[in-house]
This record gives sequence, C-alpha cells and structure tokens, in this order.
Amino acid sequence: MKPTIVVLASGSGSNFQSVIDSIRHGTLNAHIGALITNKSDAGAIQRAKAAGIPALVMRPSDFSSYDAYETALLEEIQSVQPDLIVLAGYLLKLPGRVIAKFPLRIINIHPSLLPDYGGKGFYGHHVHRAVIADRRTVSGCTVHIVSEEFDEGPILSQRTVPVFPTDSPETLAKRVLEQEHQLLPQTIHLILHVFIA
Ligand code: GRF
Repeated sequence: MKPTIVVLASGSGSNFQSVIDSIRHGTLNAHIGALITNKSDAGAIQRAKAAGIPALVMRPSDFSSYDAYETALLEEIQSVQPDLIVLAGYLLKLPGRVIAKFPLRIINIHPSLLPDYGGKGFYGHHVHRAVIADRRTVSGCTVHIVSEEFDEGPILSQRTVPVFPTDSPETLAKRVLEQEHQLLPQTIHLILHVFIA
C-alpha cells in the first residue's frame, strides 16, 4: 500500500504542487490524503481540486475555542491516517496536541539555511530581505522535523543557492524556491521509503 501524506499549506502552494508532480511523474510513491489550509483563498486549494485531492479550510476563528479547533484539526488529520504530515508554507503554529500525536512524523520546509533566519517573524520575503541585508553570499532551504518551537526541530536536509549583490528579495526567493521544489519531494521520499520503510 502507498504511504499517505497530509499537506498543510497557507499560500500559493507551489511546494504542494511539487509533491503532486513528483507523485504524478513516479519519482515519489505516495498518496496525498488531504490538503488542509487556514486560508479560504489559498492557491493550494485550486491545486488540490485540479489533482482530485480533498481540500479543507480550517481556521481557529471558525471554532468556539482554540481547544475545539485543536480537537477538530486533530480529528481531520487522524481520519486520513497519515504516515507523514507535511507543512508546505503553512503559516499557523501547529497545535501542541497535533505535534504530540505524531512525534517525528511532521516536517516543514523553510526558505533559509536553518538555524539561520528561522523563528518568529522569519517567513516569506522577511527571510530573504534579512539575508540580503546581512550581505550573505549563500542562502538556501531546509526541511526539518516540526517541534513545539518555530523552525527549531532537527534538520533533515538542506540545499544551498548563491546570493548575488544584485539580488532583491524576489529574485532570491525565486532561486531558493526552485531548490525547495526539489528538496521537499526528495526528503519525503527518503523518509517514507528509506527511514521508515
Ligand atoms: C516557501 O518559501 C516555504 O519555504 C515557506 O513558505 C513558502 C511557501 O511557498 N515555508 P508556496 O506556497 O509553496 O509557493
């Protein structure tokens, strides 16, 4: 049986798409059981629909309490019985009960070479702006295990890119994103078919 993944994404979902495409091309043997997002206008929803993947919008504000949200989110994820949970540009903090229920089974992709430029406030273009401001000559992306603290879990894989003096946050983001689209499916493959096979 194919291992099952659940993807959580808040944005355009290009990393989510890289996982869909890798499955389609046969380089990743897996089944995406569901996409969960906290944004009703996330581009990832259209990508899920186009690929026939059930998409679900779950926002803490739709529930009577954070506890109710946490319970509902956990139930949805458990209903898919995932082997791995993938955060692909998911901007909300994952509730502690979800993290506790899936130890070492939740990964996140981050657009910097962690531990540099990680943690609160370092997301999207904030990361690339800071890298350029510090005149770094190398940046990259990281896939890591999700722990209770933002961007602090054990690092699984990284890829580097050069940073040019002429770079803007946009040009650097594009270069890093190209690497993310390779690193994420490859790391999922390693976890599902090498580490926990
Ligand atoms: C990526 O840069 C990822 O590293 C970060 O959020 C961004 C999501 O981009 N966590 P996309 O929605 O996958 O295009």
